[in-house]
This record gives sequence, C-alpha cells and structure tokens, in this order.
Amino acid sequence: MGVGDVATSGLSLYRAAKTLAGVARYPLSLRPVIAFQHRRLEVDPTFRERWASCLRSVSQRISPRDEMYFGTLRPYFAVGLSGLECVEEAMDAAGIRSVERVLDLPSGHGRVLRFLVARFPDARFTACDLNRDGVRFCADTFGARAIVSRPDIDALMLDESFDLIWCGSLVTHLDGSAVDSLLRFFHRHLTPSGLLVFSTHGEQASRNLRDGKLFRYGLDRDTAERVLRSYATSGFGYADYAASAPGYGVSFTAPAWIRNTLAQLGGWREVYFGERRWDGHHDIFGVVRAA
Ligand SMILES: C[S@@+](CC[C@H](N)C(=O)[O-])C[C@H]1O[C@@H](n2cnc3c(N)ncnc32)[C@H](O)[C@@H]1O
Repeated sequence: MGVGDVATSGLSLYRAAKTLAGVARYPLSLRPVIAFQHRRLEVDPTFRERWASCLRSVSQRISPRDEMYFGTLRPYFAVGLSGLECVEEAMDAAGIRSVERVLDLPSGHGRVLRFLVARFPDARFTACDLNRDGVRFCADTFGARAIVSRPDIDALMLDESFDLIWCGSLVTHLDGSAVDSLLRFFHRHLTPSGLLVFSTHGEQASRNLRDGKLFRYGLDRDTAERVLRSYATSGFGYADYAASAPGYGVSFTAPAWIRNTLAQLGGWREVYFGERRWDGHHDIFGVVRAA
C-alpha cells in the first residue's frame, strides 16, 4: 500500500465516521419514502440506462431542510444527475480525466454534490454556502469539508485551491458587480488549468420570464419588464428579490455578456458552453484558468 492509498483509505474512514454521526440527524420518517422512491428510480428505464452505477452508490439521505427538495425524489435526482453530466461534459472538453480537490459553491444541501461524490469517490470535496445547515449536512452526509460563506464574496478566502469548481445557480442570483467578485474568487481558488463550471440564466430563462413562466422568477410584472428591457439592451438584467435585502435576487445573462465579462476580467479560457444544458433550463459555461 503506497502513500496515496493510505491517504485515500484515511479519507474513506473519515467519511464513514462523518456519515455515522450524521445518520442520527436524518429523520426516520423520510427514510422509507425516499427508499421506496429510490427503488422505483432504479427500475425506471431512463434512469437505469444512463445512470445505473451512480444511482447504486449515491446517498439517499435528503435533509428535511433542503430548500431544493419538494417531496419527490425523481425531479430532485434528475437535476442532480444533470448537474453531474454538465460537469463531465465540461471536463471532457477541457481534457481533464480525474479530479482530486473539488469545491461546490453554493452547495446547498448537496443536490448535485451527492452525485459528484458518487462519481469521484477518491476526490476531496469542499461544500461552501451561506446556509450553515446545508454545509453541515454536506459534511455529515458526504464527508465534505464544510465552509460557511460570506454574503460579500470579496471577504471570503479559503486556504486551498481546487482543480474543479462547480457553481450551480449562484450567478443566477447576483448583480453585475457580485458576479465579477465571484469570478475573481474562483480564479484565485483554482489551480493552474483548473476548471470552473457554472450555470446562468440565458435565453431560455429570459423567454420564461417574458412569458410569465416559473412564477416570473419571483418578480412582480413591472420589475420583470424592467429586467427584460435591460437584458434586451445590455445582455444583463437583475432585480433584488426584496428591497429590504439588497444584493440577492435574480439575474439574466446573455452568453455574450458572460463572455465579455470573462474577457474583461482576464485569465479565463472558455472550453465548454451548453445552452439550457442543466435540466433544460440553465446555460452552462466551462472555463479554465488560463493565467
Ligand atoms: C438556488 S440555491 C442552489 C443550491 C445548490 N447549488 C443546488 O443546486 O441545490 C442558491 C444557493 O446559493 C446560496 N448563496 C447565496 N449567496 C451566497 C454566497 N455569498 N456564498 C455562498 N452561497 C450563497 C444560498 O444559500 C443557496 O443555498
């Protein structure tokens, strides 16, 4: 057994201990329902053919406080698996075969992270989010390192760098200057040639907003029209969810706006773009740290 094997088995033991500690917090009432739904997914032809191995090994534990879980396993797992597919396609495009250190920011309660862990069992994961309960759950359940984020991303500094960063649905909630800060943060925390995969609200989402779909993304009619006018003229539209909580809302970003922002920040090379790639809704960019 070499040094690498010792490190890997140490990590597995650490994960196992964390998992046992976390089981106590997993409510008994959810377990049979989720186990039943999980068994149905395993015989569902769509899921079985494409994702059999991931489904066998993925954790079935779902936090009752997961804001992304609406009581049915199928759509929750479909979004998680679709996130994994986005990451794998971007990795292929970047020519990356394996990963050692992975950051999921924002992790939430691990909707996508659980599949990344199942797919890359030897990697070391960090879950970062403002949601304290979410990152604690990710640590307990998936053995991830838990980091509570800061509302101001410029104030967030981690003591390690990553060869893969997954950012599902945060750019979609930030204003323009916070998007810049987030991309700068990712650049600072990627290894040379490391890969960032992030999601955005592009053309499809702006069409949804125009057509009043998805509850107008939480915006009233006037605000939605203002956001759409801005998107049409500049490629970027944003509004806070609430005037009392500025800085967090919903953004719409044309692919050209994202590319222009990356070019202005510098040090990025786009390797992948998938329109509506994440669950038929969010666009996905894969960019590597170029300098
Ligand atoms: C729509 S959820 C997506 C969560 C997760 N990626 C998923 O797909 O289930 C957006 C997440 O962004 C987190 N968030 C908002 N501002 C943040 C910040 N400054 N740093 C880290 N996470 C943040 C929220 O707490 C929330 O969990």
